[in-house]
Amino acid sequence: MSILVTGGAGYIGSHTVVELYNAGYEAVIVDNLSNSSRESLKRVEELTGKQIKFYEADIRDRQAMDRIFEENKIDSVIHFAGLKAVGESTVKPIEYYDNNIGGTLTLVQSMRDHGVKNIVFSSSATVYGDPAFVPITEECPKGVCTNPYGWTKSMLEQILTDMQKADKEWNVILLRYFNPIGAHKSGRIGENPNGIPNNLMPYITQVAIGKLDHLSVFGNDYKTHDGTGVRDYIHVVDLALGHVKAIKKLADNPGTRVYNLGTGVGYSVLDLVNAFEKVTGVKVPYVITARRPGDIDACYSDATRAKEELGWEAQYGIEDMCRDAWNWQSKNPNGFEA
Ligand code: NAD
Ligand code: WQD
Repeated sequence: MSILVTGGAGYIGSHTVVELYNAGYEAVIVDNLSNSSRESLKRVEELTGKQIKFYEADIRDRQAMDRIFEENKIDSVIHFAGLKAVGESTVKPIEYYDNNIGGTLTLVQSMRDHGVKNIVFSSSATVYGDPAFVPITEECPKGVCTNPYGWTKSMLEQILTDMQKADKEWNVILLRYFNPIGAHKSGRIGENPNGIPNNLMPYITQVAIGKLDHLSVFGNDYKTHDGTGVRDYIHVVDLALGHVKAIKKLADNPGTRVYNLGTGVGYSVLDLVNAFEKVTGVKVPYVITARRPGDIDACYSDATRAKEELGWEAQYGIEDMCRDAWNWQSKNPNGFEA
């Protein structure tokens, strides 16, 4: 069975393609390489031992998308392609709405016109805004997003839900990821941020390897056990396996379903630093600085629904995540660049 993976050269996409092959699926990838490289695809081929069909194209390009559906017998789509930098989205909102919303609209029109109506969409815990309660179940009301990136996810969930309501042949699964970190255990693929990382784990690994001087911990006056922000970090391979389960579920899943993908456990910034130091033996110097605008105290999942309905549960713990993130960073100090 062939799955079209949009954004399949990226961080979560590349790990998902590996797990799709491990589960016996075939993948076709479309990516414009705006935030990824051919090298990640080469390494996915090396890990899977398969040649993967790759289209370098933009999902906003209708002709290119039509060609992909005409040339391949696609059963379902896993839709990762999108821009994801929260800070950048506040200075380039038009580009974010155009890419994420425009791209998804073009994708689903092409899918519909080729009779492919199964889609798994990368959503985010960001749609809960400052959550009404923790741990967050899928029943938690969606909240006010603090940036255009978050709004693209929230709006796209609505668009896909409305689309399915109007045409019951669509099967839609919205996966709300918590905080993906870590890397494939081989150390061959991993997260490769451009420039100075915005997210905590890649920042920590770049401090550990000596590229950055120290970590700034954004605030220690949150309402959490040590005052620093609490998040639900999830190993990227667990997340990838969640997509394989979602693809299986699509087959017997008419309608729109929403699943949290998280571990259900919250760790603070300092918990993560301590776990990283313990596992790697490398010190991560840090200073406490002001809060980062838009950050919230705590965000962690109740992932019971994914367990009950998808048969999915996170397997890896925080130490595995730290070990694998460090393995990737230390083997590839410059990411995918030689
Ligand atoms: P990523 O940037 O590594 O991967 C996204 C991929 O999409 C990249 O390879 C990029 O080149 C490609 N892309 C972007 N716009 C495109 C377009 N118009 N046409 C074709 N390809 C395009 O990001 P990721 O961390 O792997 O995230 C994958 C998805 O998961 C994104 O939709 C992201 O918003 C979502 N998500 C990520 C996180 C996270 O913390 N990483 C959390 C929640 C949700
Ligand atoms: C985690 C914690 C920071 C960096 C973001 C997006 C979210 C989702 C995942 C896509 C927070 C603290 C961070 C640093 C720090 N992405 N921190 N120093 O903000 O939970 O989520 O990525 O959907 O939408 O908002 O993740 O890794 O940036 O931060 O102290 O240098 O680490 O304050 O408490 P976040 P993060």
